[in-house]
Amino acid sequence: MKILLIASSFNGLTQRLHRELVMMGHTVSVELALNPRLMLEAVELFEPDVIICPFLKERIPDEIWKKHVCLVVHPGIEGDRGPSSLDWAVSGGMAGWGVTLLQAAREMDAGHIWGTKDFPLRAASKASLYRREVTMQAVQLVRQALENIKNPKFKPRPLDYARAGVKGTLRPAMQQADRKIDWQRDTTDTVLRKINAADSAPGVLDEMFDEPVYYYGARREPQRRGKPGALIARCGGAICKATADGAVWIRMAKRKYGPDKACIKLPAAEVLDALAREKNRPVRLPAVKAEACEEIRSHERNGVGYLYFDFYNGAMNTEQCRRLRQELQNLKKRPVKVITLMGGEDFWGNGIHLNSIEAAPDPAAESWRNIQAMDDLVEEIILSPKHVTVAALRNNAGAGGAIMPLACDRVVARDGVVLNPHYATMGLYGSEYWTYLLPRRVGEVRARQIIRECMPMLAREALLLDLADELFDEDWERYHESVVGYAESLARPDVYRKCIAWKQEQRKADEKRKPLAQYREEELEQMHANFFGAKSEYHRARHDFVHKERAARTPLRLALHRKDYSAQQAVETGPEKLLPLGGVIGG
Ligand code: COA
Repeated sequence: MKILLIASSFNGLTQRLHRELVMMGHTVSVELALNPRLMLEAVELFEPDVIICPFLKERIPDEIWKKHVCLVVHPGIEGDRGPSSLDWAVSGGMAGWGVTLLQAAREMDAGHIWGTKDFPLRAASKASLYRREVTMQAVQLVRQALENIKNPKFKPRPLDYARAGVKGTLRPAMQQADRKIDWQRDTTDTVLRKINAADSAPGVLDEMFDEPVYYYGARREPQRRGKPGALIARCGGAICKATADGAVWIRMAKRKYGPDKACIKLPAAEVLDALAREKNRPVRLPAVKAEACEEIRSHERNGVGYLYFDFYNGAMNTEQCRRLRQELQNLKKRPVKVITLMGGEDFWGNGIHLNSIEAAPDPAAESWRNIQAMDDLVEEIILSPKHVTVAALRNNAGAGGAIMPLACDRVVARDGVVLNPHYATMGLYGSEYWTYLLPRRVGEVRARQIIRECMPMLAREALLLDLADELFDEDWERYHESVVGYAESLARPDVYRKCIAWKQEQRKADEKRKPLAQYREEELEQMHANFFGAKSEYHRARHDFVHKERAARTPLRLALHRKDYSAQQAVETGPEKLLPLGGVIGG
């Protein structure tokens, strides 16, 4: 089938569906919902059999949904309508929630229902639920819908509030007034729910030194207490604030007003310090070690060390890379044979920290420091002659964060994970030893193709390409059981000995062929030009990324329909620089 994806952005769910559909053998093109004219043009150019909208904030023009079957993923239970579905569910402390696949109609979210799936509502942020539960159910609903579309007897059911089991309602867009925290009255549970419901966007608006600031990334503090509303401690980048009956850690904050580079999501303690300096009001908060906001932790079991690194949004700044490397070094000194890198709760890793870089006084110099720290970390993984290393990809990874796992001896992944092992969309050549690690697994030609095409790839595709060695169940619990079983099997003396002998021999041979240091030097030469060069596109690309600037048009690598169109225009109006097209497999 020809399937057009119309989406507000090429977000994780859209990427996942794109690859799922391509792997099912469909021809898939993407149009970003930038304006009605472009959406109409896309439909005319592509003439799709069906349109799927995985993530849509805009209205679909009437001319489109009247002529074409247009299926919209709505992150709510049957009958739920409105733009803040998950926000209301999380803030209301619902026990369960759902995803519904609706046919687009005149009224938003009121079209016929193609399917709905419920799930228990984890105590987590809205974005975390979206990336895990909503995504998983949405993929199944779309698969089912594509079966149903072929069945002439299938009829989607109209939305009927009188039907038993239809519990959803029309709810308004949630406003900051609905999200507001009353620090004198709100308990820790309530505060956590409010911040979670607004995370990753728009955040809960609060105040620091009388300045409006948004909060994100909340965690429960189990012991500390204080005067409700008072800041009581800091730990790394997080700050601890007392509630009516306890306290919460706030990991990230964003100023509403201020210099451009300060109005982005940054560690909350950094925002606090910057405001304290600006207002000349020094803050004296005890710096403590609190388990609740530790980003890096490890544990050992049956000869396996597990290393977790839960960095907000998977981005790793210079300090975080250094701390993670230190923890890895510590783990290597422990009596473990296998080291498993587990990543975070929501992302495995997304490479250097573009927000920290943007906020730095000298972004080019900070980029340079960050990539060096990242390279040191990757090198530390590669140079682990006495340990079998496993990258366990339970969540999505991008850029350097998708190359870093390849430094491990084994790569296993949770089904459904989306990888973006490329850098060019950020105007970067890339480092993290990708010129060594990627061809080592897929060969030189394929490596260049992956890097050049900038397409997402499913874990299942990574397995087919030998970028991953094993694929485990998407179900979170079953996945973890499989990872433990796998890692423990590598710690068995016979298996361990064999792996280590092979690995040491391989490393020696590789080093002889081309020293590791040379890969790094060559990559960093290119990165230096990206960071400090006059013609570099990186600083603009990073600025637009962290400030969430909307794309002016759909990138041609995603819009199959526009590729032909632009080629035709190029003939008529002169050459146009076309991006290479397609996916890694079948695209
Ligand atoms: N630095 C800072 N923030 C980052 C980041 C990075 N390297 N990578 C992702 N993020 C943030 C996004 O800004 C977004 O923030 P928000 O939701 O809090 O507003 C969040 O992480 C999720 O990212 P999003 O783009 O929505 O996720 P996705 O699953 O749709 O896409 C990627 C994933 C990896 C394709 C995309 O995030 C990306 O291109 N990241 C940049 C990677 C990069 O170029 N790194 C530097 C080179 S090493």
